[in-house]
Amino acid sequence: MTKTSSFSAPKGVPDYLPPASAEFVAVRDGLVGAARLAGYGHVELPIFEDTGLFARGVGESTDVVSKEMYTFADRGERSVTLRPEGTAGVMRAVIEHGLDRGQLPVKLCYAGPFFRYEQPQAGRYRQLQQVGVEAIGVDDPALDAEVIAVADAGFRGLGLTGFRLELTSLGDDTCRPQYRELLQEFLLGLPLDEETTRRARLNPLRVLDDKRPEVRELTANAPLMLDHLSESAKAHFEQVLGHLDALGVPYVVNPRMVRGLDYYTKTTFEFVHDGLGAQSGIGGGGRYDGLMAQLGGLELSGIGFGLGVDRTVLALRAEGKEAGNPARCDVYGVPLGDAAKQRLVVLAGELRAAGIRVDLAYGGRGVKSAMKAADRSGARFALVLGDRDLADGTIGVKNLADGEQRQVPLAEVAGVLRDQLG
Ligand code: HAM
Repeated sequence: MTKTSSFSAPKGVPDYLPPASAEFVAVRDGLVGAARLAGYGHVELPIFEDTGLFARGVGESTDVVSKEMYTFADRGERSVTLRPEGTAGVMRAVIEHGLDRGQLPVKLCYAGPFFRYEQPQAGRYRQLQQVGVEAIGVDDPALDAEVIAVADAGFRGLGLTGFRLELTSLGDDTCRPQYRELLQEFLLGLPLDEETTRRARLNPLRVLDDKRPEVRELTANAPLMLDHLSESAKAHFEQVLGHLDALGVPYVVNPRMVRGLDYYTKTTFEFVHDGLGAQSGIGGGGRYDGLMAQLGGLELSGIGFGLGVDRTVLALRAEGKEAGNPARCDVYGVPLGDAAKQRLVVLAGELRAAGIRVDLAYGGRGVKSAMKAADRSGARFALVLGDRDLADGTIGVKNLADGEQRQVPLAEVAGVLRDQLG
């Protein structure tokens, strides 16, 4: 067959291949494990939804919705979008299935791919992987602290240390509109360029996130939400900080934090890692008071986070730490001849049933190439079986680290391996 074309993955879309995929799985499962310990139940939601859900839930003026969505018409001419984030879909499912009318809070956890048409670079992909949680229906500062502590424990459980938690309060609907006006008035009095002035009119908070030094200088004395919180938002924030202190979760208050999604109110946070260059956010989240109602549900608040699995893998590498076990198997069978292969195939089945990870050299390879494959598999032991061993009822167990080999009765090999592998 002639090769007429070759394909590569779409730009900015990573593949996860062995052995590196072991790190990815370890990070994803480690972060999910932290959520499981706090009683979050698993949800598996659609990869695509009605476009309107994200427009309404995430906010039309956000970059995510206005510039980055993968939106297309399906064959029935419905506009659908590959999910750019998880919170809106979770709210849709909670409302649709009436979970908000049951026991509160509804605590849900998810893991999977999300899609944003961003400019790809190190740590920024068009298909990105998140682990997220949402705790819906209870407006309690202790729950905010729990959500944050779960993320912190997830990162630390993987061995990550070089990150910091930044948090702030974005106020509620009794103080934010006034603050927005105040900020807008301040910004429109500055000699800003046309584009930035337009942004100040549309979404003034976002101007505070401008990284250009000249804009930073101009906005250095801008009014801050934290100084204009309502009494109740202020009390809520102080209690969250109190709980975090009691839990021993370190944080820094960053009153200029701006998130890329519009639904946040009150507690809002980001985990930042300094070893990652420009894409330093390894996770973020916050409370969202109006989102459920906005999507047609009850007037319930919620809080959650999304943690970036890809960036957490990069952060661990930047710290020189390993996650996961890249070895494909513990034991690798090397048959010398057909009769030996038949016996090894059966033995492999028995060992697998005993919980030992086993692979074999298939395809009639020579010993040398089979031993190379054994080394490459990451196995700790090779099982070498020839006709003479078969006649004797023994098998060679070779320690691949030090090369030492000893003969073991075939009937005992499972027990010997189990002892050796611990
Ligand atoms: P987000 O801050 O947009 O929040 O994304 C969460 C995390 O996903 C980021 O901190 C980052 O680690 C990772 N991430 C985002 N975009 C990319 C990308 N292009 N490439 C690689 N990683 C990326 C949310 O999505 C909210 N739904 C979180 C949330 C849940 N808030 C409340 N509940």
